Amino acid sequence: MTASTDVPIAPDARLHAATHGSAAEPGATGRAGAKAILLGEHAVVYGRPAIAIPVRALGARAEARPARGSATLASTLYHGPIARAPERLNVTITAMRAALAAAGRPDAALDIAIDSSIPAERGLGSSAAVSAAVIEAVLGACGLAADDETMHELIQTAERAAHGAPSGLDARTVRARAAVWFERGRIEPVSVGHDLVFVIADTGVRGRTREAVAAVAERRKNDPRGVESALDELGMLATDLRADVSNGDRAAIGDAMNRAHRLLNGLGVGDPALDHLVRAATTGGALGAKLTGGGRGGCVLALARDAASAGELTERLTRAGAAAVWTTTVEGAA
Ligand code: MEV
Repeated sequence: MTASTDVPIAPDARLHAATHGSAAEPGATGRAGAKAILLGEHAVVYGRPAIAIPVRALGARAEARPARGSATLASTLYHGPIARAPERLNVTITAMRAALAAAGRPDAALDIAIDSSIPAERGLGSSAAVSAAVIEAVLGACGLAADDETMHELIQTAERAAHGAPSGLDARTVRARAAVWFERGRIEPVSVGHDLVFVIADTGVRGRTREAVAAVAERRKNDPRGVESALDELGMLATDLRADVSNGDRAAIGDAMNRAHRLLNGLGVGDPALDHLVRAATTGGALGAKLTGGGRGGCVLALARDAASAGELTERLTRAGAAAVWTTTVEGAA
């Protein structure tokens, strides 16, 4: 089945001429990074706060230029006319269409090339990062750039094609440069008392955010009290965690991560492959570990004691069968 992108566009987009000039700029580029949720996935969909971190080792880049013929898309997933792109690229095409509509050029034909090192469907924000990169590149090819809020609205338009009611956490974090506190759609910087070294391990199992979000909604319908109490606890953990991060209390951060993993399992978004890597991390010296992102597959985020033990943890997780492992450091004041 080919992609269908019949979605509303971001209303009253606020755009301005790109700094490099107002003339259409062929070969315009856009970039965004991966993200990992330290705490608060799913709870954030129901208004609780979350903390997320950028993952600098991974990123997406897009380039857009006027097409010679009909519009094309080139990525590792597909290379060819946009009109025949597979359904899997729906989100990316929605991002492109939303940007063109916002630029007032809905019928412009562009060739778009995407280069991303962020594994898709692993809870690391691949869809939001690729959308952000594509939107920036498409606007750039029209000689335009967007302010932060407009960018956010455009990314959210694409994210809605990924799963019905995105909280906006991914859309915000893929453009952030440091750890962020997310609450009611907005982000604030998080003060970090001490360097935090995280290891991210990929189960190799595709995460299923749409399904996982729907499963939590279904469970909440059937067991409102139980689910609300888990969401409240996740919200409180995030609030306490903000203070722990600021104080550089790594043991408390690790404990909160372990507790969050159990709560997320209780919400039905776990997976045996995630539990296996969480166990490998915690028995391998991590201070805490949890699933990160939508769950039901995807990645585990583990807090290492320090940079040296992150190396040992990486080996341990690789031996345990992780499909890929990355390290990312959130820099603190000390
Ligand atoms: C997905 O990365 C995070 C979720 O909380 C969904 C969302 O925030 O929209 C599961």
